[in-house]
Amino acid sequence: MFLILNGPNLNLLGKREPGIYGSGTLEDLERQCEEWGAELGKSVTCHQSNFEGQLLEWLQQAGGQGFTGIVMNPGALTHYSYALRDAVAGQNLPVVEVHLSNVDAREEFRHRSVTAAVCRGKISGLGWAGYRFAMEYLSELG
Ligand code: DQA
Repeated sequence: MFLILNGPNLNLLGKREPGIYGSGTLEDLERQCEEWGAELGKSVTCHQSNFEGQLLEWLQQAGGQGFTGIVMNPGALTHYSYALRDAVAGQNLPVVEVHLSNVDAREEFRHRSVTAAVCRGKISGLGWAGYRFAMEYLSELG
């Protein structure tokens, strides 16, 4: 059972800078993740929030809810949220950080992730496929 967390502004997928983030909506992405999860024999729960504290709550609760892995796109919080970093570090589930865009090919401030070091790994620049690859990795863990 996987938890997919999307952070600030990802609710605007499809409308927001489509040249960078694509034309699919968040709902489309979440449905696709559920389908990929089903192919892997895993159920998938998707959440998005524009609020840092809500993301922290979901991370803190995940361990007690039967999840076995987390795919997280923290949006811009990636670059500065020590609270999010601590929430990832403070729970026991494997987390894979995903970015739709290639953050290393963009503005300097996007090159730094304060959360990646406490995740199992980071996938950036592969669009929606990043979520799939993250789930494939997590399903190999069990
Ligand atoms: C993003 C990259 C971040 O820099 C940005 O703030 C986002 C989306 C991505 O998926 O490419 O909101 O995480």
